[in-house]
Amino acid sequence: MKLTLKIWRQTDANDAGGMHTYDVDDVSADMSFLEMLDVLNEQLNAKGEEPIAFDSDCREGICGMCGLMINGEAHGPVTTTTCQLHMRSFTDGETITIEPWRSDAFPVLKDLVVDRGAFDRIIQQGGFISVNTGSAPEAHAVPVPRDDAMRAFNVATCIGCGACVAACPNGSASLFMGAKITHLGELPQGQPERDSRVVNMVAQHDHEGFGGCTNIGECTAACPKEIPLDVISQLNKDLRTAMKHGH
Ligand code: SF4
Ligand code: FES
Repeated sequence: MKLTLKIWRQTDANDAGGMHTYDVDDVSADMSFLEMLDVLNEQLNAKGEEPIAFDSDCREGICGMCGLMINGEAHGPVTTTTCQLHMRSFTDGETITIEPWRSDAFPVLKDLVVDRGAFDRIIQQGGFISVNTGSAPEAHAVPVPRDDAMRAFNVATCIGCGACVAACPNGSASLFMGAKITHLGELPQGQPERDSRVVNMVAQHDHEGFGGCTNIGECTAACPKEIPLDVISQLNKDLRTAMKHGH
């Protein structure tokens, strides 16, 4: 395949940045999207030009590092992570537009790399449980109803990639936060901090500059882990309950 790539280039956080056009050939339909960018970077290196900066780590859909806006869609045209997107989803001769996540709370550091530290700070505010020290409790000592366990498992698959924020017209991180709140709120181990967790996480979310949720649903459509929209209902319910309890 031969492709034309329109890619956002930005030298650092203070640079205004802009789109640049590159031609890349020798792309196989079996390559992942990131491998295609690797090919482009080898071409740029050979010409003595600055390679494109982009994030990745596991390249297996697990770590959440690799988010890109591809033709205006978070993670591109398939419901998966950018590293698991393959070039067979594009056609020979196509022009592809590649941009970083667009959100005030995710400032661009360089080219396609954004700072998602705001997610870490939300997690620090409440994404934990307290466990008493001592020997590990026997796994079956705390019974969990099967439906609760399955729901907790399903929403725990959120990898913190940020696609929900990038896709949301309000730049809200409600789906991410709802996944964490539901994951811990479904389990007995998550009950002691349940009220303070939701209050502190929502406060940090708003402090970071993420927007409010208006039930548009772009987040769940873009989510590579198919986190359902109703985790945001759970988030709002937990917040109301915490406020009734005087938080
Ligand atoms: S909810 Fe989905 S889109 Fe949002 S951070 Fe988690 S995995 Fe990514
Ligand atoms: S690089 Fe880890 S999810 Fe894509």
